[in-house]
Amino acid sequence: MTASAQIGVTGLAVMGRNLARNFARNGYTVALHNRTAARTREVIEQFGEEGEFVATQSPEEFVAALERPRRLVVMVQAGEATDAVIREFAPLLEDGDVIIDGGNAHFADTRRREKELREQGIHFVGTGVSGGEEGALHGPSIMPGGSEESYASLGPMLEKISAKAESDGTPCVTHCGPDGAGHFVKMTHNGIEYADMQLIAEAYDLLRQVGGFSPAEIADIFRSWNEGRLDSYLIEITAEVLSHTDAATGKPFIDVVEDQAEQKGTGRWTVQIALDLGAPVSGIAEAVFARSVSGHADLRAASRKLAGPRPHALGEADSSAFCARVEQALYASKIVSYTQGFHEIAAGSEQYGWNIDLGKVAAIWRGGCIIRAAFLDRITGAYAAQPQLPSLLADKRFADEIAAAQDDWRQVLATAVTQGVPTPGFSSALAYYDSLRADRLPAALTQGQRDYFGAHTYRRTDRDGVFHTLWGGDR
Ligand code: NAP
Ligand code: ATR
Repeated sequence: MTASAQIGVTGLAVMGRNLARNFARNGYTVALHNRTAARTREVIEQFGEEGEFVATQSPEEFVAALERPRRLVVMVQAGEATDAVIREFAPLLEDGDVIIDGGNAHFADTRRREKELREQGIHFVGTGVSGGEEGALHGPSIMPGGSEESYASLGPMLEKISAKAESDGTPCVTHCGPDGAGHFVKMTHNGIEYADMQLIAEAYDLLRQVGGFSPAEIADIFRSWNEGRLDSYLIEITAEVLSHTDAATGKPFIDVVEDQAEQKGTGRWTVQIALDLGAPVSGIAEAVFARSVSGHADLRAASRKLAGPRPHALGEADSSAFCARVEQALYASKIVSYTQGFHEIAAGSEQYGWNIDLGKVAAIWRGGCIIRAAFLDRITGAYAAQPQLPSLLADKRFADEIAAAQDDWRQVLATAVTQGVPTPGFSSALAYYDSLRADRLPAALTQGQRDYFGAHTYRRTDRDGVFHTLWGGDR
């Protein structure tokens, strides 16, 4: 076989086949391979007319079809399947060849694989790909890690197939940093996505239970919010979901869906890693736990009779003012959750020496991915104005917006608490905000207790050094 393909894709399920089609539609010759050969044939049969494909049956044939340096995209299940594919292909490759793992790998696995393959002279580029199957076909947001050298050869191709930011046409791809940086950024993207979804769900719940609006009316409210500063893919699809009617029953779709959210794991990883890094991503953690609480059907059934208020709808006269307040609470909480997500990326970057450019991360999330939003233009702008911004809350524009929103935010929470509507996302965001602005935190008491029971020592406000108090007589 002559080596004629500029890129190859192995793993031709929904993501892999759509990425392969995207490369082909952009003028690249694409070698195709899949463990089960029937899938490769299926892609050629269905989409062979879309561009130049080279269908291959075996790993040897696949590798032989690729121009040097070879570039192979692996789009299989994360974990053992990815290791199996690497074990199969690596012995067939040569110095300078590039394996691109576009699956949702854990960044620690990516670091391990990158190190092992580097020792064999092979570049390993762990790459976040966001936007689901539609994004893979029409333009995803792409978050590659790996060496600078591999990005020099791969970057232009990824830029071609990526989404482009609506506001300025910039390709939604950047070299995030070495080894696992790309998969770390993708993981945090998903964590932020969890928080965004939870905040939107709480806004819906408040509008329904306290505002007294119907799902169709709430869909219209979300549509109007989508015209303003909350303009985003998630708000747009929320309106679609809420206005959908179940064909079988004629009821609002939202009322026939079981209220138990599932998860695949990247949100949980974001929180687990944040705990290790000491990055307080309380909003993402609450979002993960909210899904977990929702899934405990038995526990919820056993607790249904616990004492507490039942929400009641406000009168029509108050509901539109309440709706405006919920918008403020949602926006302020969203600023906080992005602040926390970017903090985690900064902490990971520091820990692993990745030197991730936070402004570029915000910029490549403006198109293609699930959290794409007009809001990300503002974050991009904030980091452009001040690359060393210690926190998004230190940006004057965001700080001013929260200042303007906070009275409404507090009132919404007061109402939610009084009426017994759970708002873990909104509440934790406000607690984080108030913790950061507090003159003194009760952590001083925690330090006193730690010194009392464990001689863990403390620092003083008036003197340098580390101190321990000799507590009580017998101690
Ligand atoms: P998937 O269901 O996760 O994976 C199926 C593919 O993996 C098939 O091609 C399958 O080959 C192959 N595979 C599984 N085990 C294998 C093994 N031991 N050796 C060789 N090949 C093996 O497919 P997907 O939904 O397209 O996702 C692919 C990757 O992209 C995943 O890591 C996923 O997390 C990530 N991702 C998915 C989305 C999404 O929206 N779906 C978005 C972003 C990222 P056979 O045909 O032979 O079974
Ligand atoms: P993307 O970058 O496009 O978001 P992804 O990370 O593979 O792609 O996941 C797509 C989204 O669909 C994720 O938010 C994922 O959420 P979970 O982490 O909760 O799973 C969601 N998703 C995918 N498969 C799911 C499933 N079986 N159940 C619930 N949510 C799912």
